[in-house]
Formats: sequence, C-alpha cells, structure tokens
Amino acid sequence: MDFKRSDFPEDFLFGAATAAYQIEGSAHGAAGSCHWDSFARVPGNVIGAEDGRRACDHYLYWAADLDLLRAAGMDAYRFSTSWARVLPEGRGPVNTEALDFYDRLVDGMLERGLRPFHTIYHWEMPSALADLGGWTNPDVHNWFADFTQVITRRIGDRVHATATINEPWCVAYLSHFLGHHAPGLRDIRATARAMHHVLKAHGAAMEVLRAEGQENCGIVLNFEADEPAEDGPDHAAAAARQDAIMNRWFLEGITRGSYPEEALEGLEPHLPAGWQDDMAAISRPIDWLGVNYYTRGLMLAAPDTAWPAMEPVPGPLPRTQMGWEVYPKGLEDTLTRLSRDYIGALPVYVTENGMAWDDRVTGGAVHDPARISFISEHVRATRNAIDTGTNVRGFFYWSLLDNYEWAFGYEKRFGIVHVDYETMTRTPKTSYHEFAKALGQ
Ligand code: FCB
Repeated sequence: MDFKRSDFPEDFLFGAATAAYQIEGSAHGAAGSCHWDSFARVPGNVIGAEDGRRACDHYLYWAADLDLLRAAGMDAYRFSTSWARVLPEGRGPVNTEALDFYDRLVDGMLERGLRPFHTIYHWEMPSALADLGGWTNPDVHNWFADFTQVITRRIGDRVHATATINEPWCVAYLSHFLGHHAPGLRDIRATARAMHHVLKAHGAAMEVLRAEGQENCGIVLNFEADEPAEDGPDHAAAAARQDAIMNRWFLEGITRGSYPEEALEGLEPHLPAGWQDDMAAISRPIDWLGVNYYTRGLMLAAPDTAWPAMEPVPGPLPRTQMGWEVYPKGLEDTLTRLSRDYIGALPVYVTENGMAWDDRVTGGAVHDPARISFISEHVRATRNAIDTGTNVRGFFYWSLLDNYEWAFGYEKRFGIVHVDYETMTRTPKTSYHEFAKALGQ
C-alpha cells in the first residue's frame, strides 16, 4: 500500500466493516426470519438461491474474526445488529440470546482495543413486519424506534459511534423500484413511501438515541459519482436525475429538511399525504455522516421509458468483479462536495469502500494485487479530500471477510480475508498483510 498511518491526522481511524446478515449465519441463536430469507427462495432473485443461514458462521467464530482485526492493527470495527435476530417478530418479545451475543461482541472489541461502530439496521427487515408492508407501512418508524431503544439500552454504553441505517437508497429504491434487493418490488408508490419512511425512521431513531443520552450518532449513505455518458442537455439532465434520486434525496432530507426537485417531479405524487410535516424530524442534527463509495454512474437519457427516463451504461475504466468501474476520484469529489455544499466541518467517515475479485487460495495464500492498488488509491483520495478541507475522520474497508453479497450470493469476494464456505477457514489475503504493514504492524 502506498500510504501509512503517519500520512493521516493522529486520531484518524482505520477499520473494516461487515453486516450482520452477510456474516453471522441467521440459523444460529434463535434469530427470526427476515425478508432476505424469503427473497432468496424465489427463482432468479439471488445467484444460486443462496441465503444467509450460515454465511461465514461469524456467530460461532466472532472471537477469531475480532482477533484478525486486532492483528491487522485496525482501530475500529463497523458491525451491524440484526433486527430479526433481536426481535424475531419485529416487535414484542426480545430474543435474549441475541442481546447476549451482541453484548459479548462489543466487549470483545473493547478487549482488543477496537472502537465499536454500530449500525442499527443493515437490511434485515423482520418477516413479520415485511408481511405488514415493511418500509411502506406508515408505522415503520415507530417499530424501528422501538428496536433502536432495545438494542441501544443493551450495547449503547460501550459503542464509540452509532449509525441508524445503512444506505437508505438501497433500502428504498434498489429494493422497491429496481427490484434487485428484498422485498424485490418494482412499484413507484411503494418506492416513494419507502424513500420517505426510511428517513422518517432515521429521524425517529435519532430522537430515541438522544433521549437515551447516546453520543456520536449519525447515518450511513451511499454515494455514486454521477456523470452523463455523452454530451447533450438530455444526458446531463438524466445524470442530474440520478444524482437527485441516489445522492441528494437522502442528503438533503437530512441536512436541509427538503427533497430535490429533480426527484420530486417523479415521486411526489406517490408520497404519503402530509410528508412535509415530517421534514423537521428527518433533519434533526447528526454528529457525523458515513459515506459508502464504490464507483461512478454513467447515465444516458432514455426518453421512451417511464420516469426517471434514464439508463446506466458501462464505462471504459477498469472494472472489478462486480463490473463496477474503479474511479477513486469520485470518492475525493464526493467528500469535497459534502463539506463544500452540505455539511461544512461535520465529521465524515468513509464507512465502506472496497472491491470484489475472483480470489482463489493457492499454496495457502491469496494474492490480490488489484485490491492493494484499489485500497491505496481510495485511501489517497480520502487524504486529498482532507487536504482540501473535508473533516474525514476515518476509513473502513468493505469488507473484513468475503461474505454473502446479497443478490450475488457468495460469488463476489470483497474481503481482505478469504473465507472457504465449506470449511469456514479464514485465509488473510495479501491485501490484509499489506494493510497491516501500512498500519505499522
Ligand atoms: C454496499 C452494502 C454492503 C455490501 C457492499 C458491497 O452497498 O452496504 O452490505 O453489499 O455494498
């Protein structure tokens, strides 16, 4: 890696990220069913119809996994807590085994000198609530606020930072408009409601967190650097619509209490009546913003299709196993744009950045030079954004482990640690060793 710790301010944190459903194994510990369990059962939704029942068996191997973080010299660990594990019916009776597990996990981080970065929701909508419409139900913010209180009362005293929700665009748009993630809808009314309710749930959770005296609370948004694929005003407008739907809707809802016109033009007719009254609660102050960044989006106008009348096209840059272009400048531009136009000096964490590759174990090792360059370039982009005035406080690689990559099943490998899903053997990749060296190990 061509960076080292001393290139960064002294209190800058390096870490790795995971999410509950992607690693824990939902078959363990009396977890309830979530909408990914049923989504994966429908042909065509997930490659190989794979689900998270075992995932990486992290529920069993969590201590060894935390040891890997410590041995790499990481400062922090971003993890999430499964709603369906803690509240198997979504509401009501609490699964005490689940709370005991997260309790041990947080203590395990502290024992190893890792700062716990807790994400409350990383996509396990309990099936019992999905039956009631999940994110489209007008009560979902109350259900989520209750879950927030239960989990925060158990582990909030020891976590370093709390994020309410991971990637509301994926929760709402990817899942209710594009149909790629659970619940797999393609319905604009459901989309508009989910896009509003997910932010309302964030606001309600922030209120609970404040009432519980929780400090250092924020949200994790995903950003894409959106550009027109060709010259011309129609293509520029298409890129602006994508930017409004994906980046600005959530950011402006939270930081300004408003939604961008370019997105409202299609979604407003489908929003719940009186949505404007919720904007004050949605834009309560946060203490930090999490940025997930992977790639850019190249857009073309698609005038013969329904709103938003655009389509993404593949670009010419080198791509990862996901087919995503490698574009580190987009991370720098995103971070710079945030401080310049939206949040000023508010602390920012790069809460996810990483790449998938078809990594294989050969002779007991996994050589992943492409990932080493990828990390170096994105850490450098982060450093550049600090130089131009963004208050970036940390960088988390996605992911510690190869894991359940949602609709792609186990095929895409993002980890700095390889996982053999037959034996559950963990093999640190070359990128893990190089990361550790950069961190002074
Ligand atoms: C993000 C998700 C994370 C993982 C990465 C590759 O959108 O937050 O769970 O799937 O993409």
